[in-house]
Amino acid sequence: MTAPHVRWFMNDRFGMFIHWGLYAIPARGEWVRSLEKLSVEEYQPFFEEFNPIKYNPKEWARIAKEAGMKYAVMTAKHHDGFCLFDSELTDYKATNTPAGRDLIREYIEAFRAEGLRVGLYYSIIDWHHEDYPHYGDKIHPMRDNDAYRDHKGEFDRYLTYMHGQVHELLTKYGKIDVMWFDFSYDEMTGEKWRATELVRMMRSIQPDIVIDNRLGGDGKAAEPEIYAGDFMSPEQLLPPEGVVNHAGEPLSWESCITLNDHWGYCSGDLNYKSPKTVIRGLVECVSKGGNLLLNVGPNAKGEIPRHSIDILNEVGKWMDANGDSVYGCGPCKLEKPEWGRYTQRGNLLYAHIYDRGMGPINFRGLQGKIKRARLLSDGSEIKVETPWNAWEYPEDAFISFGSASLPDEIDTVVVLELNEDI
Ligand code: GLC
Repeated sequence: MTAPHVRWFMNDRFGMFIHWGLYAIPARGEWVRSLEKLSVEEYQPFFEEFNPIKYNPKEWARIAKEAGMKYAVMTAKHHDGFCLFDSELTDYKATNTPAGRDLIREYIEAFRAEGLRVGLYYSIIDWHHEDYPHYGDKIHPMRDNDAYRDHKGEFDRYLTYMHGQVHELLTKYGKIDVMWFDFSYDEMTGEKWRATELVRMMRSIQPDIVIDNRLGGDGKAAEPEIYAGDFMSPEQLLPPEGVVNHAGEPLSWESCITLNDHWGYCSGDLNYKSPKTVIRGLVECVSKGGNLLLNVGPNAKGEIPRHSIDILNEVGKWMDANGDSVYGCGPCKLEKPEWGRYTQRGNLLYAHIYDRGMGPINFRGLQGKIKRARLLSDGSEIKVETPWNAWEYPEDAFISFGSASLPDEIDTVVVLELNEDI
């Protein structure tokens, strides 16, 4: 059973992930400091230069909304430790760059104004804080730099800082809908982050906030820890059969997926997914009971890359006509059909037809159960009738498309109004 405070989230199904920070300038992805083992000093020029003159979160919000997205999650702080918000606990923040202002506040206000829910990504890893483990850590940029061999940080002081920043994020900007922590690894997990205390503090301020599962903890266990979070967060894949707990009951989940192959802006990566891949991916998530959080990585000037906007616009056209088969929908009990996928909401079964096939479209086991069928995009009648050559399949219902191609080659949605439970 989905907890009441998570229902809106699992209902909305489609969100925008935004990875943005200093790493937009080197433009080789948000891990650049770790991958290239850059010191704080070597990374500093980007801080001094950061001046996103084209940053217009109202425009971002419009793009998200027109794509059919209902919520967004933006990096308040990524692993490099740079804060896009005006934290009182550090100088390493956007207000001290040429940008000179709190960019998270502007994001929150703009997205809210468009009627979108707002979420914040917050990295519990921090490559800038002096008390975070350096030498010998698995991923810290200074992990094998001899100069840091004797570096001793007071990890507890880091935790106080980290908890303090989360407190700031939950008290300075009104209601935050989603808190998206990233991430635990090896022994850096759970109580190492003082995670129970952290989540208790968060819930005391914002009881209904939806929290991901990356503080650690086992959300599939019979008794998940308080910090195990509200949803699972598969990354760069769609789980083959949704996600279930130890008892086989469905859990809430959201797959996060990049549009090209990077989260943060990467100028050389033009390996974009097509609108078709995105639309079918979203439908796949819904058909398995999950959400899709689709990423954009704005550039140093503050623009969402043109390619990403073009893809999102195409997705938006499809969503405009077919969004009813996504929002508030989930899996159905029928097996995955050969021609595509089903999603369902109450007595409405949505047939997502990808493959025109050679004969009529077969709805297995639905003979006599369909009250009416309509093309979702324009409401036009689709006749449910058994053709002369299908008399051998009395359990099944059929529709036929007169033309050799489908009305929508990406995903033709036929809504089947059922007259009995399936
Ligand atoms: C990974 C990466 C990170 C990215 C995240 C998104 O864990 O560390 O850069 O923000 O995935 O899910």
